[in-house]
Amino acid sequence: MKILRAEHASSTYPVYVGADLLRRRGLLEPHLKHGTVVVVSSAEISKLYLADLKQALWPQQPRLLLVPDGESSKSLAQLDQLVGELLRAGVGRDDTLVALGGGVIGDLTGFTAACYQRGLDYIQVPTTLLAQVDASVGGKTAVNHALGKNMIGAFHQPIAVLVDPGVLRSLPSRALRAGLAEVIKYALIRDAEFFAWLEEHIEELLELRAEALDFAIERSCRNKLEITQGDERETGVRALLNLGHSFGHAIETAQGYAGWLHGEAVGLGLLLAVDLSCRMGLLPAELLGRVESLLQRAALPRRLPSDLTTERLRELMSTDKKKRAGRLRLVLLRALGDAFLCEDFPESDLRETLRHYAF
Ligand code: GLY
Repeated sequence: MKILRAEHASSTYPVYVGADLLRRRGLLEPHLKHGTVVVVSSAEISKLYLADLKQALWPQQPRLLLVPDGESSKSLAQLDQLVGELLRAGVGRDDTLVALGGGVIGDLTGFTAACYQRGLDYIQVPTTLLAQVDASVGGKTAVNHALGKNMIGAFHQPIAVLVDPGVLRSLPSRALRAGLAEVIKYALIRDAEFFAWLEEHIEELLELRAEALDFAIERSCRNKLEITQGDERETGVRALLNLGHSFGHAIETAQGYAGWLHGEAVGLGLLLAVDLSCRMGLLPAELLGRVESLLQRAALPRRLPSDLTTERLRELMSTDKKKRAGRLRLVLLRALGDAFLCEDFPESDLRETLRHYAF
């Protein structure tokens, strides 16, 4: 087992990474107060992993609250329902929530923990690659609004994160591939060596080879923590973690969060961000080919959804949270492993990029 320390200004907590950690008896016990433990999960995930997780939570016997699978659960309506169930169960400030699931469960549970009675402890137990390398670490929590993804949320750090790569064996291949988009993201933003490693090893990740998976998850989490520790509330460098997301969120919003997976939209967003960087003369075109090839090997989309016009996509990008003084800011690259926030990209280049990837 590896233990990474997440040292944020508001709190410090461990990120445990290792196979079979869910079944490690009593692992989470030091983090629990003496109150009730409530696991929030979906029917499918809890069937697969609740029995194992009870070992890590031992000697506590957790209650289970179920929420439906899918991005539509990241809603104020679902938050309201969850709060009602917690109130009826008499959950109070000494109790702990545990998010057992992917990014949707993690974000919803984390946001519930942030709001419920002005703040409960919660633990992240991510069961998708995307949540293991990104969403579960760093304390971003949110639900969606019809007008934009993650528009209602809070920074609220978990008290521990338990990453067991063994659970990825039950992950559908589409979700695994979507998670790889976030892994590729770290390499592009700040880790050129990791990018070269991914070019060598991406098939091993797709085949769930344990050694490759452990390496990629730990490297991604380290990269993420090195960024979030210095900028917990995203006043600066943390925004770089949104490489590809201004494009990706706009695609998801256009589809009412019911089309592509988040990672699929981000994967294409990475390609668009690299394309725009190349168009602006910041990057050699050769890198575009390398990114496209990695996405292709991971069978991730390389064209915009057929029913999304470039005008609509551009319009939706304008609601992005990274705007400053009404001006859209995009994360672009000036070299492999060197991302920056750019406000003065030529609008014509952006439109060319969108047109190039339109159907
Ligand atoms: N998922 C991006 C961040 O945590 O900042």
